[in-house]
Amino acid sequence: MGKEKIYKRYTVTAALPYANGPKHIGHLAGAYIPSDVYSRYLRLNQKDVIFVCGSDEHGTAIPNQALKEHTTSQAIIDKYHVLIRDCLYKLGISFDVYHRTSDPLHHQTSQEFFLNLFNKGLLTEETSEQYYDDEAKAFLADRYIIGTCPKCGHAEAYGDQCEKCGSSLSPRELINPKSTLTGNIPVLKPTKHWYLPLDQYETWLRKWILECHKKDWKVNVYGQCKSWIDAGLQSRAMTRDLDWGIKVPLPDAEGKVLYVWFDAPIGYISATRALFQELATGKNNYSTPQRDFGKVKEKDWKAYWQDEETKLVHFIGKDNIVFHCIIFPIMLHSSEEYIVPQNVPANEFMNLEGDKMSTSRGWSIEMHEYLEDFPDKPDVLRYALLTNLPETKDSEFTWKDFQSKNNNELVAIFGNFVNRAMVLTHKYFEGKVPAKGTLDELDKNVIEALRGFPSKIGDAIENYKFREATAHLMDLARLGNKYLAETEPWKLAKTDMNRVGTILNLSLQIAANLAVLSAPFLPFSAEKLKGILKLDSHNWDETGSVSLLQDGHQVSAAELLFEKIEDEVIAGQITRLNENKKKMELQNQSAVPAKAEITFDEFSKMDMRIGKVIAAEKVEKSKKLLKMQVDTGIDTRTVLSGIAEHYTPEEMVGKQVTILVNLAPRKIMGFESQGMILMAEDKDGALKLISSSDPVSPGSSIS
Ligand code: 2FM
Ligand code: ZN
Repeated sequence: MGKEKIYKRYTVTAALPYANGPKHIGHLAGAYIPSDVYSRYLRLNQKDVIFVCGSDEHGTAIPNQALKEHTTSQAIIDKYHVLIRDCLYKLGISFDVYHRTSDPLHHQTSQEFFLNLFNKGLLTEETSEQYYDDEAKAFLADRYIIGTCPKCGHAEAYGDQCEKCGSSLSPRELINPKSTLTGNIPVLKPTKHWYLPLDQYETWLRKWILECHKKDWKVNVYGQCKSWIDAGLQSRAMTRDLDWGIKVPLPDAEGKVLYVWFDAPIGYISATRALFQELATGKNNYSTPQRDFGKVKEKDWKAYWQDEETKLVHFIGKDNIVFHCIIFPIMLHSSEEYIVPQNVPANEFMNLEGDKMSTSRGWSIEMHEYLEDFPDKPDVLRYALLTNLPETKDSEFTWKDFQSKNNNELVAIFGNFVNRAMVLTHKYFEGKVPAKGTLDELDKNVIEALRGFPSKIGDAIENYKFREATAHLMDLARLGNKYLAETEPWKLAKTDMNRVGTILNLSLQIAANLAVLSAPFLPFSAEKLKGILKLDSHNWDETGSVSLLQDGHQVSAAELLFEKIEDEVIAGQITRLNENKKKMELQNQSAVPAKAEITFDEFSKMDMRIGKVIAAEKVEKSKKLLKMQVDTGIDTRTVLSGIAEHYTPEEMVGKQVTILVNLAPRKIMGFESQGMILMAEDKDGALKLISSSDPVSPGSSIS
């Protein structure tokens, strides 16, 4: 281990994935692979470590998915909790516990946490006006409101974000907001919530992050935190009006639940509690049965969250930085009970074949798809991701690179070296480790180089440089290959068996070191290699030595560790990717679902006419709006319409339009709009005028 402060124990967390759909390899590259390598490495170093994760089952993402799949929220979380958990385990992610936030223990832990802050007077109560859907009888969460983005004019921006231009929004900034539940225009209604006044912790945050962690936090993480703090923090509501989530444990909080970002990180604590409950009772509902917990010293979960001698490390993707570096630490710190993280090594994003990875656009490699196609190759994916992790900037996964990492590195370097050493040992020494003879310069250099690997790899892991650590590992295999190529023992077999024995002894020692040192990265192959070498368990500290295998030790038959992946397989994956994209494009283009039924009387209240545009101009400071004078046959009136990105003022003049003339006037950008021009809008927000192909005189009514 390196020179940093020695901790008594480690709590390693990996972001709780939303149980609202399958997860892709970008998620693996963001949080799960790095946290797994880190935890496995600590265990190999005989450290007292727990590695916790679980499903994030609250927030609007869940009921949204239930709507899409025409099922219940409960059915959604039950389905995806199992799918995601099983994929992660199959890919070797060695969680000690994989919990879920719908579990009663988590509800209890979150409510206790909330009440502790509330009872200390740390939460402020504020009443504000929020959008309410009268028909659905519900306050609308940010994601349940869509409208026109005030920044770019995209017609389907969400209440918290425009996915077209990426701007963060608040629901009240949206132009023409609509409820996604009913399609109605929502109304503002007062509602009470409990806020965490983040601004009050600015001094503490500055000291903790900006002073204490300037050097040891990753530049991307530190930089994001600094800009948040410098921009000034504001109070954030920790509760929501929703019917899916953890009930706010207060008497006057009917219909209110904890904000998903309040309860989700507490999920790490609940998972830890569940783990210790199960260790005490011998149950394995959420904990991992095969893990040897011998090194986990404490009997109680609290030491892992409340003792200063515990190192807490959160592994996440960059979109979670503010929650893990600012909001959750403030919750932990202000509770006066918990420790705060020592590090939050967030990764950037991984793109796929030149484009952003996205499940909803079909441009992704889902974990379960990979496992269906390559069930016996979890390590190949781990390696391809590890060598390409988005540690300092976004990175890119391509199938060609995946193939090349497998064929040119795992097969041609690692596997080839081990295989050659094994085959030669069987050929010349009946599979028994030969004794070393006199060492020459080359042997001594190889031994010295070998001794350097554990600390090189370990230092890189301890500094969260997993790409570098993986590169060192492959260099060790390269060292072995080069040694065999330079010494050519097969040529010496007729003349100098002593020399052949020395070379193969050292080669087998390199292979044994590879078996131990590769375990955090390639756990399945490491196990297989240990089996081939009949190597007992060794810990990290023993590596770098040339006596992992005793003279005369019998090894098993040679077996291939990795196999070549052919071009057709890769071509098939690329085809599948393009097909998925097309399929999703078609699905996403399909019409939005029909709105709730209305009566004929309701319909006949609308007075729709044919009008003619007689003047049109752009509205200053608005990209989207045109202000028009429309001859309705009844009068000439001003109408504002969000069509400037689709029609120029010149194009509009003289056009026949369909206009709703009895809509109550509305103020838009300081002008009164006295009607609405009807448009056809597709899924992407493209607008087209609706008009008759035959000339119709202004004022003609539509029925
Ligand atoms: O971004 C996400 O997928 C969140 N579900 C991560 C939550 S991490 C933690 F706070 F639970
Ligand atoms: Zn926008």
